[in-house]
Amino acid sequence: MNKYVLVTGGAGYIGSHTVVALSENGYCPVIADDLRNANPVVLDGLTQILGHKPILHQIDICKKEALKDLFKKYSFEGVIHFAAYKAVGESVEKPLSYYENNLLGLINVLECVQQFGVLNFVFSSSCTVYGQPIGVKKVSETTPKQLPMSPYGYTKWMGEQIISDFHHSVPHLKMINLRYFNPVGAHHSALIGELPIGLPNNLFPFIMQTAIGKRSKLIVYGNDYPTADGTCIRDYIHVSDLAEAHLKALKFLECQAEGLIDDLNIGTGNGTSVIEIINSFERITGLSLAYEIGPRREGDVVEIYAEVKRAHEKLGWQARLSIDEAIRDAWAWENYLASL
Ligand code: NAD
Ligand code: WQD
Repeated sequence: MNKYVLVTGGAGYIGSHTVVALSENGYCPVIADDLRNANPVVLDGLTQILGHKPILHQIDICKKEALKDLFKKYSFEGVIHFAAYKAVGESVEKPLSYYENNLLGLINVLECVQQFGVLNFVFSSSCTVYGQPIGVKKVSETTPKQLPMSPYGYTKWMGEQIISDFHHSVPHLKMINLRYFNPVGAHHSALIGELPIGLPNNLFPFIMQTAIGKRSKLIVYGNDYPTADGTCIRDYIHVSDLAEAHLKALKFLECQAEGLIDDLNIGTGNGTSVIEIINSFERITGLSLAYEIGPRREGDVVEIYAEVKRAHEKLGWQARLSIDEAIRDAWAWENYLASL
């Protein structure tokens, strides 16, 4: 019997890699994505990797009736909920769109989970819920959450709160919030990867687009921070490792006899600075990256990386791929895009 898993936002960056991981491990992922931030190139790449077209329902999850129809059609083993807007800067410009899409989408999915008796639920949360952590760099799931720095951050913060309150009312459900740190890289086939629409906000796509010639130079946002080389430090996690964390989270939930709710950090456990990333990029590709040091970016956290013991203990998961492999794969993906 097919083990159907609903993957909202499954045509996006992290969702598409998770669809691959699920398919390779005996699940039958069903994508609900209206493609508002997805690219046909990724769907073609998915088809090539899977050897068949993915099951895709082009629906807006904010439209409750359309979502209900999907739940009527399949008996889902679990739900992995990715679909959301994710650009921090844009969320400041369009806060209502962010609250509407990210919170209404979540509420609709939870309502269907309850109505159709789905037991296992995984939510895309983010290290953004830690805000500017006070006095710590390595944050664990028990590090107090701080108020977020943007409307986007609030949608994840409030999303976790909604899930917690919801779970209180239906304690037999099994629910995990995966708090991703900085997802980077691409599938090793270079057939799927990150494809930001317009000017990228994040470091990796900006580096790749600069090196390929789409952008003239990277601006490093400040080198006067209290870190070894003065640039900010993050925990960059390969997207294929992140996809595997979703697979393991789902398997873990399936094995639990009792309801539960948990938060798990998903990172490597190591911090890397912006300059270290640039140096690695130059070493791996043999290219010289055009960059200059600019002013600090408002709201940037100086240094944050994950304590990952809990994910290891609970899921038996840990990151396996290095930053060098993430750079290699992201660069191969950028070159593949340029060849199309
Ligand atoms: P993405 O934009 O590539 O993927 C999201 C997908 O959801 C897109 O394909 C989009 O078309 C779809 N979508 C959005 N709203 C929808 C709606 N109302 N109905 C149907 N489909 C809709 O983003 P991503 O990087 O893959 O992120 C996935 C999730 O992970 C998001 O919830 C994001 O907030 C979270 N997250 C991302 C990062 C990151 O740096 N990429 C870090 C932490 C958490
Ligand atoms: C990384 C580092 C920048 C671009 C964001 C979201 C967060 C979460 C993860 C979703 C920082 C520096 C960047 C550039 C630069 N996403 N940088 N020049 O800020 O850790 O977090 O993604 O939940 O919510 O805020 O990631 O990739 O933007 O930046 O110097 O052109 O690269 O200052 O130090 P960030 P990022």
